[in-house]
Amino acid sequence: MALRGKFITLEGNEGSGKTTNLKYVRDYLLRQGIDVVVTREPGGTEVAEQIRDLLLAHPAEPIAEDTELLLMFASRAQHLAQLIKPMIAQGKWVLCSRFTDSTYAYQGGGRGIDPARIAALEQWLHGNFQPDLTLLFDLPVEMGMNRARQRALLDRIESEENAFFERVRQTYLTRAKQHPRYRVIDASQPLEKVQQQAVDHLERAFFRIPA
Ligand SMILES: Nc1ncnc2c1ncn2[C@@H]1O[C@H](COP(=O)(O)OP(=O)(O)OP(=O)(O)O)[C@@H](O)[C@H]1O
Ligand SMILES: [Mg+2]
Repeated sequence: MALRGKFITLEGNEGSGKTTNLKYVRDYLLRQGIDVVVTREPGGTEVAEQIRDLLLAHPAEPIAEDTELLLMFASRAQHLAQLIKPMIAQGKWVLCSRFTDSTYAYQGGGRGIDPARIAALEQWLHGNFQPDLTLLFDLPVEMGMNRARQRALLDRIESEENAFFERVRQTYLTRAKQHPRYRVIDASQPLEKVQQQAVDHLERAFFRIPA
């Protein structure tokens, strides 16, 4: 049986550099001879991407907070069953932009949903299955929004007010202190420095032989 692969998640506010660094980290892992699968949430499979479209579109009808929360976990359940878990069981390393930490940050911190509700869904769907490492790309909200705005039109969640994203950021930073799997990266720095930090964390976590 192949050795179990690793599960690495990238987290952070809009425009923090998750997608950009995902590619860099993937290339680094490939150079280490590792079989890597790159994916994202919400989405990651055909059906989960359809749920993503539903979540990020701008319908005339408001989306209730609980609907948003449950759709996030519906997408995640599909992604876990169809992609993440099978790939890891085959020994592949899965690099995922956003996972349950995003749900705590956005639906919990941002929207104000009781984190106990999120914890109940997390426990149900993947309680004892957690990322091996989580890279948190942290930067001032305004800086991230400016980067994100230059890239594309804002989706439904990206269109929230600044105070929402401040709560998202603070929730991430609080969780980073509570969970040893987190590594916080100062994402306000030039891209090369951010990439170097990301790769240093991976090297220390998985490749460097302890002295
Ligand atoms: N360290 C950096 N310095 C300057 N620009 C950057 C840096 N990192 C990323 N960018 C640029 O900022 C923009 C947003 O980056 P990216 O799309 O990777 O963010 P993201 O975290 O994936 O955002 P989202 O949550 O909206 O998907 C891109 O145009 C990217 O090239
Ligand atoms: Mg992205």
